[in-house]
Amino acid sequence: MSVVDEIKERLDIVEVISSYTPLKKSGRNYKALCPFHSEKTPSFVVFPESQHWHCFGACAEGGDLFSFVMKHEGWDFRTALEELARRAGVELRPRTPAQVKEEEEADRLRELLTTAARYYNHLLQHASEAKAARAYIARRSLDDETVERFRLGYSLPGWNRSRDYLTEQGYTIEELVKAGLLVRKETGSTYDRFRERLMIPIRDAQGRVIGFGARTLDPEGVPKYLNSPQTPLFDKSRTLFGLDLARKTIRRKDQVVIVEGYMDVMQAQQAGFANVVAQMGTALTEPQLRQLQRYTKRLVLALDPDAAGVQATLRGVEVARETLEQKWEPIFDPRGLVGYEGRLGAEIRVLRLPPGQDPDDLIRQEPQRWITLVAEAVPVVDFYLQILMEGLDLNDTKSKAGVVDTLLPVLQAVANPVEREDYAQKIARALRIDARAVLSRLRGDTRQRARSQRRATRTQETTPSEIVKADLESHCLAALLQRPGLLSQISAMLEENQQEPLHRQDFREIENQTIFESWEAVLADEHAAPTEALRVQLPSGLHARLEELLAPGENELADEQQVRDIVLTLLRLRERNLKRLGQELSFLTLEAKEAGDIRAGQYIEALRTYKKTLLRTQQALAQRWI
Ligand code: UTP
Ligand code: MN
Repeated sequence: MSVVDEIKERLDIVEVISSYTPLKKSGRNYKALCPFHSEKTPSFVVFPESQHWHCFGACAEGGDLFSFVMKHEGWDFRTALEELARRAGVELRPRTPAQVKEEEEADRLRELLTTAARYYNHLLQHASEAKAARAYIARRSLDDETVERFRLGYSLPGWNRSRDYLTEQGYTIEELVKAGLLVRKETGSTYDRFRERLMIPIRDAQGRVIGFGARTLDPEGVPKYLNSPQTPLFDKSRTLFGLDLARKTIRRKDQVVIVEGYMDVMQAQQAGFANVVAQMGTALTEPQLRQLQRYTKRLVLALDPDAAGVQATLRGVEVARETLEQKWEPIFDPRGLVGYEGRLGAEIRVLRLPPGQDPDDLIRQEPQRWITLVAEAVPVVDFYLQILMEGLDLNDTKSKAGVVDTLLPVLQAVANPVEREDYAQKIARALRIDARAVLSRLRGDTRQRARSQRRATRTQETTPSEIVKADLESHCLAALLQRPGLLSQISAMLEENQQEPLHRQDFREIENQTIFESWEAVLADEHAAPTEALRVQLPSGLHARLEELLAPGENELADEQQVRDIVLTLLRLRERNLKRLGQELSFLTLEAKEAGDIRAGQYIEALRTYKKTLLRTQQALAQRWI
């Protein structure tokens, strides 16, 4: 039995969830107001028999004990495993000596960085050299409470002040280099990376210091911000500044606002807008979005349309980049963002800042306006269209065609076919051109892809493989893991048949969910050896399960056959899940009706949606292409 199973055996989902939110018995099941979105009538149901939960309301999401605590606490799988194991009194398999060493090292580095943050903070408050820094903070209207909450600090001038202090505290030069506080020269000697700067600790979602952003106090100083380099703890592309302070509010508001900079986050927190995090000047990455997804699926990006990054990306111009002090990635990547929306089932909107203003200025000057702008944020595609339309001469056919050309790849990335066509119509209206022109280009591209796909499938007509295994989830996941190269074909086949893209929620078991999620992330990162990367990334509690899934099956199918096999299995899996949920919903409806409960209407509504999706799935299953 796996540790996960053992924990599940010992802990009762009803009991655990009750400790978070009051549950009310209802027939065989338990109901509650969904803890993940705000609602007036309960659509959150716990099923003691299958030990699962499901929200039939806005979340339309469910899972087991693990996914519940992960979602509620914002834990990753590893943390959930540790915590639940503790609650269940289950001993986790001893870690390998290498893992133990790695974790001890990480602990030590975190402790070192915490000590450093405390040291810088102390200097800021008390050192006479920090007078200018204190004045600077006042000038930026950051109050004492904000300084305390973010534990801002100051690094002294000179090349070895931090080194001297921290080595005195018992840390080695080696550790200081590893933590990014010291730079090692080629000659082997070292010096303080951060000097005479305002020190901003960067913390992970659990509030542990993992690095620093350090602002120069000199208006001419370059770079403006010097950040910790990549270290075993700090990876800028996987971190969001301010998440530790924001995550509770993000969940409560079911919305996160993503800004660019440290100052923006601090100012927002100070003004009471607590659902704000910063991407720290680089493009948003999938790992960052995945992290946010644990708290909300509704994201708002605050973009300054005049910012060099945005304009450069929009115009496809690279020069602006070179004038910036640092090599930056494009900040706004509409196609990527729309792709994320589909893959993560998220909704990404763009908040358009007034030209030349950052959230920092805006929030200080007109907090009300900030609220309005967040409320008025528009979907990525609309934002992109708006920008492209600016200054466009509607009599200039060539330029209009250029806009369509630019937008087409973004539209192709929209996962939902209905939405995609709506956008095409909207673009046509905005450009005052015939909608058919846009639609035919859009469909032409899609159809061409579909056709070549089909041709590839037909070349070798084979009988569908037998799925003997009752465990559809494992069968499907194993096939996916063993043939990573087939993902794009699978996605295309699903899309061609108007089916939702592959999604974490296709798997009900948390082990499968987690493995699937990591696998997707590994593929998105384009690791050369995805399987190896997956082995490294997964917590040890899941290794046994992973190896099971990776064990070669009896018969290797040809690519096209394998694609169909996976899609078929997936659809069956979905059919089964939808049927099960539909049954539960019918039961809840019946019960509510009997009790004269007004909730019945809401359940019926949800039931209708489930039935529609089920029908679509079954139609696809009935088609001969399988
Ligand atoms: P901004 O230049 O907009 O900085 O860069 P800011 O936060 O508004 O700072 P102030 O208001 O001028 O003090 C946005 C973010 O990009 C990163 C930082 O995370 C910054 O907060 N950045 C910027 C760097 O990492 N290095 C730089 O040199 C500049
Ligand atoms: Mn600023």
